[in-house]
Amino acid sequence: MAGKTLIGEFHSDHTKVVQALMDLRSAIQAQDIARIRATLNEANKLVGPHFKFEELHLYPKLREFIGEAGLQRLLTEHDGVFRGVMALMSLAAKDTWSKSDAETAAANLELIWEHPITCDGLALYIERLPHTLQEELLNQMEERRREGTTLLEYRKERFS
Ligand SMILES: [Fe+2]
Repeated sequence: MAGKTLIGEFHSDHTKVVQALMDLRSAIQAQDIARIRATLNEANKLVGPHFKFEELHLYPKLREFIGEAGLQRLLTEHDGVFRGVMALMSLAAKDTWSKSDAETAAANLELIWEHPITCDGLALYIERLPHTLQEELLNQMEERRREGTTLLEYRKERFS
């Protein structure tokens, strides 16, 4: 069996994110706050290293394909994800939800729903990067995973 590849690992993160989003959607519909909390907690650990890798290592290497404006758009999308996750986390800290809490949670989820689709499409450019650079990026991805900065921790690093 072939070893790990950058695109394979990149896609597998997005697959997990899509699963987390689907779990969140059903938990929000059921107003199952404990399940929302548990899913957010897992996503916090998964998405932190993923975002940090993308912003520090991957996105700058894609500048030649997507341009400065494209790069900024990706960062702005991440800003939206930070905001959406923060809003969901503060709602998940409550013991019970009002109807408007449930609507706010669903609206915040809508805002972050499409990001993994946009991001996964970048594989079309990643596969055009030289093989040695893809290997180097894979190593950096794995370093960020070992480092294990959560999304909330990375948000503090990013905005400080
Ligand atoms: Fe991504």
